[in-house]
Amino acid sequence: MASPTPTDTAAHDTSQIPAPEGSITVTVRVLRFNPEFDDEPHWESYDVPALPTDRVLNLLINIKSYVDGTLSFRRSCAHGICGSDAMQINGVNRLACKVLIKDLLAKGNKRTTISVAPIKGLPQMKDLYVDMEPFFEAFKAVKPYLIAYGNEPTHERIQSQADRERFDDTTKCILCACCTTSCPVFWSDGSYFGPAAIVNAHRFIFDSRDEGSEERLDILNDTEGVWRCRTTFNCTDACPRGIQVTKAIQEVKQALLFKRV
Ligand code: SF4
Ligand code: SF4
Ligand code: FES
Repeated sequence: MASPTPTDTAAHDTSQIPAPEGSITVTVRVLRFNPEFDDEPHWESYDVPALPTDRVLNLLINIKSYVDGTLSFRRSCAHGICGSDAMQINGVNRLACKVLIKDLLAKGNKRTTISVAPIKGLPQMKDLYVDMEPFFEAFKAVKPYLIAYGNEPTHERIQSQADRERFDDTTKCILCACCTTSCPVFWSDGSYFGPAAIVNAHRFIFDSRDEGSEERLDILNDTEGVWRCRTTFNCTDACPRGIQVTKAIQEVKQALLFKRV
């Protein structure tokens, strides 16, 4: 996708938004785009009353509820679990439900401006809403499920604590796409599997009960696979779950190099 070219900035009357006692004013700039009317994205601004303990998601919900119901963005759990509200907040990939306003305020400031834009590298469908299909295609391509051959077992597949520990970090992924859409390789070529797909392959490659590691490693040995990673750590910095994404990618590379899982 070509980088959005922000044009004009439209401001809105936000007097209908309730202002709780102790609230400050946050100017929220949103990179808006409606494919029915717009040729390209443009910034629009909203002065929103907010408490320092509000999350960015609260402000977007207030804009949608009181000013413009057409503002589009994904969200569900509002607690950092579903992974649906990834967006660029002040240029950094974050979950809007996890970013507190007080953490965006310079010390002592009673007013601030924040910019909110869609995650980069996936087609902007409408406002903060992107087409996640290419992201999930890459995820599905690495077979993110337990593969076991032979007869169905008669008892539970037992695993030692040490074996479980081996892939514990990568089980935490919530498929938010913050990592993949912060990756410069993915921006320049969307056919790269991207860090999230590799993290989810890692979760099964290093599972002692799984018998599909070789299939997955073959897939990731492809020209669009792990060798495209340039170890820039953007993905690790972006992950809201604190997953050591680049380390997981390195472990998959080592498994390919040394045929050791
Ligand atoms: S470490 Fe690799 S996958 Fe992660 S952002 Fe950098 S190039 Fe992309
Ligand atoms: S690895 Fe982290 S940033 Fe990437 S999709 Fe999973 S949870 Fe999101
Ligand atoms: S709304 Fe679910 S992670 Fe933010």
